[in-house]
Amino acid sequence: MASKTPATRSTSKKKAAGTGATKKGGTAASSTEPRGQGDELQQQAGGERPRLTTNQGLVIADNQNSLKSTPSGPTLLEDFILREKITHFDHERIPERIVHARGSGAHGYFELKKSLARYTRAKLFTEVGKRTPVFTRFSTVAGGAGSVDTPRDVRGFAVKFYTGEGNFDLVGNNIPVFFIQDAMKFPDVVHSVKMEPDRAFPQAASAHDTFWDFITLTPESMHMIMWAMSDRTIPRSLRTIEGFGVHSFRLLDEAGASTFVKFHWRPKLGLQSTVWDEALKLQAADNDFHRRDLFEAIQAGDFPEWEFGVQLFTEAEAEAFPFDHLDPTKIIPEALVPVQIVGRMVLDRWPDNFFAETEQVAFCPANIVPGIDFSNDPLLQGRLLSYLDTQLIRLGGPNFNQIPVNQPKCPFANHQRDGHMQMQVHKGRVNYEPSSLQADSPRADAQAGFRSHATMPDDGAKGRVRPESFADHYSQARMFFRNLEAAEQAHLASSLVFELSKVETPRVRERMVGHLLHIDESLAQRVADGLGLDTLPPAPPAAVPPQDMPPAPEVRIIGRMRETLEGRCVGILIDEGSDAAALKALRKAAEAAGATVKIVAPKLGGAVLSDGKKQPADGQLAGTPSVVFDAVAILLGEAAGKKLAKESAAVDFVAFAWAHLKAIAHDAGAAPLLKAGNVGKDAGIVDAADARGFIAAAKTRQWGREPKLRTLA
Ligand code: HEM
Repeated sequence: MASKTPATRSTSKKKAAGTGATKKGGTAASSTEPRGQGDELQQQAGGERPRLTTNQGLVIADNQNSLKSTPSGPTLLEDFILREKITHFDHERIPERIVHARGSGAHGYFELKKSLARYTRAKLFTEVGKRTPVFTRFSTVAGGAGSVDTPRDVRGFAVKFYTGEGNFDLVGNNIPVFFIQDAMKFPDVVHSVKMEPDRAFPQAASAHDTFWDFITLTPESMHMIMWAMSDRTIPRSLRTIEGFGVHSFRLLDEAGASTFVKFHWRPKLGLQSTVWDEALKLQAADNDFHRRDLFEAIQAGDFPEWEFGVQLFTEAEAEAFPFDHLDPTKIIPEALVPVQIVGRMVLDRWPDNFFAETEQVAFCPANIVPGIDFSNDPLLQGRLLSYLDTQLIRLGGPNFNQIPVNQPKCPFANHQRDGHMQMQVHKGRVNYEPSSLQADSPRADAQAGFRSHATMPDDGAKGRVRPESFADHYSQARMFFRNLEAAEQAHLASSLVFELSKVETPRVRERMVGHLLHIDESLAQRVADGLGLDTLPPAPPAAVPPQDMPPAPEVRIIGRMRETLEGRCVGILIDEGSDAAALKALRKAAEAAGATVKIVAPKLGGAVLSDGKKQPADGQLAGTPSVVFDAVAILLGEAAGKKLAKESAAVDFVAFAWAHLKAIAHDAGAAPLLKAGNVGKDAGIVDAADARGFIAAAKTRQWGREPKLRTLA
């Protein structure tokens, strides 16, 4: 039988204090706390510390030692406390999502600014000023749950609106199109991009044979490939990505009349991406770069915000588009249908518990509310099945809707019963309908309830067919590439060269260049040159010859980025003797411009500045490379500048800031370090005394610097 009090021995300090009680509210182990016979710490309940119990509520007397045949015999099977603890631990992991396994989420609200009552009866979109709670999860697609935040990958952008009429999930991505046109192909595209099945690599990367083999045999993916190889897939922050519902949905008014809608999210901070070399180095510098960035912004009260927009169009307008809007590989250019901003989303609360909320949240495109309906997009139709099906196994049974993060915040009641992990205690005899035995048994409501749009009757035939109207695979891919700024085009061409250079099978590489000939001949030539191909491979047959489309500047990032330091981070490298006044002035200017400032020094304890005062550091130089900042300042005394010029972490700090097109402010003492890092001169290299000039340069990247630094395709 467990003894009433732990078998403790008192330390001499405890004896002196005369008590084993902990300090009120204290969490650190104190030398006054009791210890066991083997000197193990035996922290005790009391004061603000509640008692530790088993899951049955039994108070535990000793959380350090299993029950043994004393003093040193085997552990006894009888130890139900040990068995409960270990068994629970053994089952702590649940299957990760088959896609989008790596993600970060936050709570917040959606606020409607402009009523859509003309188009929909969904109260979410008709009650101006109303705040609807949301939970939003961002994710990468290909990598496992433990993979890094910054591979080249599409980002998921899933929002659960807890409306008064039920949950509405807008399960989108940061790219407005998708790789495939029919749900039948989803397992294939996902298998091809995930780790190859025989070797289990590469993790979280599309740069390998199976992906490009599939893609080059699937021309419908060409438009998405243009987006995927662009800077959109290497975002600076989750706070600087757009979101798209991708498919056309329907809005239904009170009378059931339908208007098609595409949903858009636009980041308040503007779009911002990294450069590829920076993204690669971030994978080493901080696995959790995006998660940490979101967490820190929310903790600091710098709440991430997006505008919410809609593109609305009628069936007749859709008929006139030069493409089929039900094809999820097509966007509706804004020249055809402008985006109207009707609301905003603010994320203002980090989850209390990652597993309970971010991991267990279950989004599903089938979760909609009265006034919204699906379109016949064949990819969307497949998604309506897939999410519930996968969540049944991922979350262990049919009652995952009762997990707090998934529960509607409006009343819900039906006759579904029992099943694994049933949390509700249903009362009464009636679990069926029609029924007459229980007055408060729930019933359908023909007026308030969800009604599907009455679609046109089809011709009665059935078949596994792809609409002919889906056959143009190249026109919008061309539109995307040709609307990019020159620097973005060079990045896209270079990322194709990077990815295809990892493909071992020559015919796969060549097939891709063949497709590029339909998109843009100069792009095909650049990629062929980058791969070292002597001749251009033939273009595959195109079912529909590509058409030139009107300008669509909305696809680009450069030019649509906000020149701002808001939400960004400036790193200041200091060492012994750094100029205190310059540090103060730069910090003040950066913070006034909305940036966070972090001090980096060779030692975390910091350095004594020119004014004789010690300045603590936020990051140690060797573990805080410049890739984690948007702009840097180097403030060094003469001796420190010479010393750090021989320190590789410091040399990399300036060299990478230069290579990643960032602004660098520096003083005279930093000159030897900049020289060692081969930092050149341009508008982004600013005298540290010129705080205003530094802030102006730090608000953007120095795109003009790039051709001097690296050979882009
Ligand atoms: C037929 C096509 C598709 C199928 C079958 C499919 C299936 C899935 C599945 C099984 C999951 C894991 C869900 C979970 O375990 O909770 C998932 C997650 C996700 N999918 Fe899809 N998907 C498809 C297309 C798309 C498209 C086109 C988008 C973007 C519009 C998208 C966005 C997402 C997002 C954002 C998540 C992560 C949700 C979260 O954060 O938990 N998927 N998808």
